[in-house]
Amino acid sequence: MSGLLEELSPAEADCRYRTPLAPRLARPSSSIRPLNPNFGPFLSFSTRPVTLGTYRCFIRYTIRMVQAVRKAVIPAAGLGTRFLPVTSAVPKPLLPVIAKPLIEYGVAELASSGIHEIAIVLSPGLKAVADYFRPSESLIEELTKREDSERLTRLRKITELADITLIEQKEPRGLGHAVLMAQDFIGDEPFAVLLPDDLIWSQVPVIAQLTQVFEELKGNVLAAKRVPTEAISSLGIIASDPLTPGVHRVHGLIEKPLLEEAPSDLAIIGRYILMPEVFDRVKNGLVGALGEIQLTDAIATTIGKTPLHACEFTGHHIDAGTPRGMLEANLYEAQRRPDLKDLITGPGAVSH
Ligand code: G1P
Repeated sequence: MSGLLEELSPAEADCRYRTPLAPRLARPSSSIRPLNPNFGPFLSFSTRPVTLGTYRCFIRYTIRMVQAVRKAVIPAAGLGTRFLPVTSAVPKPLLPVIAKPLIEYGVAELASSGIHEIAIVLSPGLKAVADYFRPSESLIEELTKREDSERLTRLRKITELADITLIEQKEPRGLGHAVLMAQDFIGDEPFAVLLPDDLIWSQVPVIAQLTQVFEELKGNVLAAKRVPTEAISSLGIIASDPLTPGVHRVHGLIEKPLLEEAPSDLAIIGRYILMPEVFDRVKNGLVGALGEIQLTDAIATTIGKTPLHACEFTGHHIDAGTPRGMLEANLYEAQRRPDLKDLITGPGAVSH
């Protein structure tokens, strides 16, 4: 690691796209909230109905009172260079696994873990992601005219998943920097981070698995899995002692170590529960692996001061951040679906 960071602040989050989106913000809709015009989130809207009955409001309020982790950040910035040329026009978070984009898997996992306040951090050129979570009125009108209730329900489901706030990260300066862009949104409370390239199919959502560990042990919690040797130098690697089955007490972290420097084969997979102090750790930290501001380095500086645990989650993980991984995710999802399974295993299976 080298070089001190200059002062960083969420004010760096750019608002460049506020004007083009303004006509939609002006649309008469009670579900769109006004923005802080000065910095941070440039677009914030509720994707769920706000005309709630008293009863539903009461339940939600009660859940909020008891739920320790209420907010999440999905860092989804980056140029998606591994997927060029398609990513020159389509943001990587919208690339589909079957017909559902990566970003929706992440939002759905958070929602099913009880987290409905979500900031998505994106690179400039993100309008399509905002559109995805707010389908156009003309599309809704057209489907209504056609009485296509199945597709309308599907679209409605997307819009009701969560309250989404979009934050722009002006420059690609690393995962730590991307998370820092959400500081104002998170405020002073523990929060979840979910990396949408890391797809995980599980009975209990992995964020919920981490939250359980967090509620017992407090501090920061990372999702972890054992990885093959060839993956070690491209991941965050954990030095730890076993605490209980599946839970490790972490005493060291190295981002993308050389194989000979790696303390184990236990890697961070893209799910975290973090204390808000991590923002200051990012700001005061150093530039790390790949010349970027690494989240792993910021978390590592909390060791010894704040409890840090790794949870070997239960579930099937695929890194869909490469074309190969994306294909694997599509194949995996296809074989889980009765209407597509035959493409993989049946008599009509694709062969060559
Ligand atoms: C990031 C983290 C790394 C983690 C990985 C999981 O790396 O920095 O610690 O192991 O996600 O996918 P990236 O994939 O951004 O290089």
